[in-house]
Amino acid sequence: MNRLSQSVEILRKANHLITLTGAGISKESNVPTFRGKDGMWRQYNAMDLATPQAFNKNPTLVWEWYSWRQNLISKCQPNPAHLTLAKWEEQGFLKTLITQNVDGLHRTAGSTKILEVHGNIWMIKCTECAYKSQLTSPATGIPPCPECGAQLRPDVVWFGESLPQQVMGQVLKEIELADAIIVIGTSALVQPSASFPLLVKQKGGHVIEVNVETTSLTPIANVHLQGKAGVLLPQIDQLLRIK
Ligand code: OAD
Repeated sequence: MNRLSQSVEILRKANHLITLTGAGISKESNVPTFRGKDGMWRQYNAMDLATPQAFNKNPTLVWEWYSWRQNLISKCQPNPAHLTLAKWEEQGFLKTLITQNVDGLHRTAGSTKILEVHGNIWMIKCTECAYKSQLTSPATGIPPCPECGAQLRPDVVWFGESLPQQVMGQVLKEIELADAIIVIGTSALVQPSASFPLLVKQKGGHVIEVNVETTSLTPIANVHLQGKAGVLLPQIDQLLRIK
C-alpha cells in the first residue's frame, strides 16, 4: 500500500481528527516561512523583531516589520490546502484546526474551528490597558490606544511569552479527544506546538505528516507524506471520496 492510501486508511477510521498547521501550509499562498532556504529568520533576527524586549527597545522597527507582513499577507489568498481543511470541517470530518500561523488564511478559506496558538497578525492589544481590537488594514507607524493613549502592539505571541491560556486549554482538550492528527507544513522546532503530535501519539492516536522535507516528527509519524501541502491535501481528499 502506498503512503497516500495508508493516510486515507487512517483518516477513514478516525473519529476525532485534528490538524496542526505551520508556515509551510501558506507557502504556496506566497507567505514566507520562517526557516529553510527563503525563511524570514535567515534574513531577519527574531530577537530584534519578535520579543517584548525588541518592542520596548525599538517599537518603530517592530511595527515596521509587522506592517510590512500585514501588507504582504493582505495580498495573499488561501491555497488548495487551506480550502481542503475548510471543506473537511464543513463535512464534520475535521474537528479542530490548531495553527501556529498568524496570517488568518484559514479563516479566509472558511475554517471556523481554529485555535491560533501564536495569535493573529490583524489583532492588536494595548501595552498598558485591556484594550484589544482588530485592524482592517495594515498599520502605519505605532498606533496609539484609543482608550489610554499608550502604544498598541500586535496581538501575537513573541519569543519568551506564554501562549494564550484559554487557547491552550482548548488545545489540550482537543488533544485528549483526538485519535488522529495531520501535521502540515511545520518544522516542529517551536514548543509547545511541536509536542502536540507526540501527545496524540502517546495516547495511541495516529500521526500523519505532510511536509516537503523530513522533520524531528517524521520518525514518530505513522505516515510521512513528502510534498507540497497544496498538492497533497486535495489528493487525499479525492481518495477519501472513493469508496
Ligand atoms: P517554519 O518556517 O519553521 O517551517 C516551515 C515548514 O514548512 C518546514 O518544515 C518546511 O519544510 C515546510 N514547508 C515549506 N513549504 C511547504 C509546502 N508547500 N508544503 C508543505 N510543507 C512545506 O514554520 P513553523 O514550523 O510554522 O513563531 O514555525 C513555527 C513558529 O516559528 C512560527 O509560528 C513562528 C516562528 O518563529 C513565532 O513567531 C512565535
